[in-house]
Amino acid sequence: MTRILALDQGTTSTRAIVFDADLRPLATAQREFPQIFPAPGWVEHDPEAIWATVLSTIREALAQAGPVAALGLTNQRETVVIWDRATGVPIHNAIVWQDRRTADICAHLKAEGWEARITERTGLLLDPYFSGTKVKWLLDTLPGARERAERGELAFGTIDSFLIWRLTGGKVHATDATNAARTLLYDIGRNDWDAEICAALGVPRTMLPGVKDCAADFGVTDPALFGAAIPITGVAGDQQAATVGQACFAPGMMKSTYGTGCFALLNTGTERVVSRNRLLTTIAYRLNGETTYALEGSIFIAGAVVQWLRDGLGLIARAADTQALAEAADPAQGLVLVPAFTGLGAPYWSPDCRGAIFGLTRNSGPAEFARAALESVGLQTNDLLDAMRADWGAAGDSVLRVDGGMVASDWTMQFLADILGAPVDRPVVAETTALGAAYLAGLQAGICPPPDIFARRWALDRRFTPAMDATTRAAKRARWQRAVAAALAV
Ligand code: G3P
Repeated sequence: MTRILALDQGTTSTRAIVFDADLRPLATAQREFPQIFPAPGWVEHDPEAIWATVLSTIREALAQAGPVAALGLTNQRETVVIWDRATGVPIHNAIVWQDRRTADICAHLKAEGWEARITERTGLLLDPYFSGTKVKWLLDTLPGARERAERGELAFGTIDSFLIWRLTGGKVHATDATNAARTLLYDIGRNDWDAEICAALGVPRTMLPGVKDCAADFGVTDPALFGAAIPITGVAGDQQAATVGQACFAPGMMKSTYGTGCFALLNTGTERVVSRNRLLTTIAYRLNGETTYALEGSIFIAGAVVQWLRDGLGLIARAADTQALAEAADPAQGLVLVPAFTGLGAPYWSPDCRGAIFGLTRNSGPAEFARAALESVGLQTNDLLDAMRADWGAAGDSVLRVDGGMVASDWTMQFLADILGAPVDRPVVAETTALGAAYLAGLQAGICPPPDIFARRWALDRRFTPAMDATTRAAKRARWQRAVAAALAV
């Protein structure tokens, strides 16, 4: 038995995919779950709804593919769950990474001079995106929660920890180094929780999970759940799993994943590069106790802008319709959309900024909106790569490996290559996040080969080569910069 189950618990849906020993997908099951918006800028998930999708997708995939030897888990990062250790029941909905409710806590900590210390140790910035201030908000807000946490009655976890707890029947409270690195509480240089930051946020040490390598033993699933004790042997945050799935193992290799948001990671090897351009320094993966670091650029709205065209504006029936519309748009109109629906991430980090559209005329219609939406994804990626080039010169020569739902659009990928002025490589296997999780689990279980051999199997579907002339590229970039500056100023 050499099949591997990958569980990808994302922001809008949960997927279970069974791979064979050569990491070819055999069976897939997927379920969406509700998004909860209790107030403007707030985003929650019901952990029980997530858990229900985990059970049903795993059961469905196993029913199709048969028994598996190992389970690899990957997940939406930063999202916070606090649960009762005795019952396993969460004390509140999960607060999702997109949630902006802790902007004031961040501003307060900044005013107290915490940001430099936090960045030095965690590689992150003081933004509501990360888990730490969300944990503080829950402990401050729910009556008795901090006291219960101090008594050791409550456990904190990102989604991976919560699922490991549930999957192992409450036996294991653990996370991996990549997920820990997103909490704002973890020192990525010392590889341990930071007592001083935890104290500043009022987060008791007793709540925190143990931190393991990405390929490690995280316990076995409770046999009552799936009829077998499946060893959980790989865990990584979804963007880090995609980095592994894209085989970006060498310093200088970059990937960008287009899901709800867009997250570009540049492997910087064992060197922890400190960004001078508001990028994050994060853990790409930790294997055999050795940490590989990355520079990360995080954009909150990428695929979600297409969802907005569909569900918010009703301009399209299906996401795939955007490509034909964008092709039909009048390029002379030059509409610019800044999709700051939940603030702006890297490199601007403005939680309060909101979306804006510039250049509207009487002729602006659905086609021009669609084109501006798709272009906004490329323009935001270019901001990230500009920052990476400035922080780590070698990035300028690199190719960008892309994955995620949006990369199916040739038009979007060609525009991306055009605006970056750099080649964009789309792999044959688009499911790189699940693939990365399966690989990590298979590595630990002795099913998969070492990284260098896995990397040789990466196969190109199509390379997009820049075709836009330099003058047009420069003009588009400049217009975007002016639009962002205006949106930030409002
Ligand atoms: O940092 C948030 C990221 O992990 C979410 O990814 O694919 O669920 O949008 P995704």
